[in-house]
Amino acid sequence: MTTQVLNRIPAFLIAFTLLASGCNPPGKPTPPQTSGRPEAVTDFNVLYAAHCAGCHGTDGTLGPAPPLNDPLFLKIVPDTELVRVVTEGRAGTSMAAFDQKKGGPLTTAQVKVLAEGLKTKWGKPGGPTDVPGYLLTPGGNVEDGAMMFAMACASCHGDKGQGGKSGELRVGAINDPAFLALSSNQVLRRFIITGRPDLGMPNFTEKTNRPHNFSTLTAKDVADLTSLLNSWRSPATK
Ligand code: HEC
Ligand code: HEC
Repeated sequence: MTTQVLNRIPAFLIAFTLLASGCNPPGKPTPPQTSGRPEAVTDFNVLYAAHCAGCHGTDGTLGPAPPLNDPLFLKIVPDTELVRVVTEGRAGTSMAAFDQKKGGPLTTAQVKVLAEGLKTKWGKPGGPTDVPGYLLTPGGNVEDGAMMFAMACASCHGDKGQGGKSGELRVGAINDPAFLALSSNQVLRRFIITGRPDLGMPNFTEKTNRPHNFSTLTAKDVADLTSLLNSWRSPATK
């Protein structure tokens, strides 16, 4: 538990620090440590360590960016979306485009090695079934989302997402415009489904620290909750 708290330096602060320090700015990660041409590197581990670990964590977890070493995430994220996000990045976030065609440092073949390698390296069979889809869906309802938040989230995050304490768990604010400005709705939806197993947040079906009458979040619940979180953004980033 102590390490969880220590590790929980707010993600956006670390992201700012990384950006400010200039040691590993998005889109210009340090070249792989190799004597040959950087374009020739096709080993997942070498590419990951050089281009991704600084944000996503050495072992795909507990970095400032979302964990990639999460079997539930890897089970639901479509292969095409993995290729797309590494190729193009995510607009408005520190996830930059990595494909040379989009101004990044990697060849299309290297992007493919990374995007495909994530599931090979960290995917696991099994886990929950009937999981709501990863991709954003239109039409979430903010009012229904607020009711669901009171049931499924407020015990840890506070009634308005302001953060708080649940037992030994210290939970940061998720209604903070600075946090929300650095997070896409896609990643918010992902966390509602996968939780943060590395930090003690339950996934869409786990009952940990939730009321006894909590039942598994449906696809509608996930869409409504995503809309609620989006409604907390400052107007400029909605
Ligand atoms: C400068 C920091 C940074 C670097 C370097 C970086 N990422 Fe990211 N990545 C992010 C952030 C932040 C997000 C979440 C963006 C959002 O809000 O949707 C993200 C999102 C992702 C996602 C989608 C995760 C999800 O939950 O939907 C994948 C996959 C991903 N990155 C893979 C990679 C790979 C592979 C590399 C190395 C080539 C890499 N990233 C390098 C910061 C980074
Ligand atoms: C058992 C307590 C608990 C419950 C219930 C819970 N969370 Fe969390 N949540 C956490 C913890 C712990 C973290 C990670 C630490 C932090 O952000 O301070 C977290 C992080 C998050 C994050 C930010 C992820 C990041 O990387 O910073 C979002 C968004 C989030 N939760 C949304 C929700 C929503 C929406 C619900 C309800 C569907 C919910 N959480 C339910 C404990 C909980």
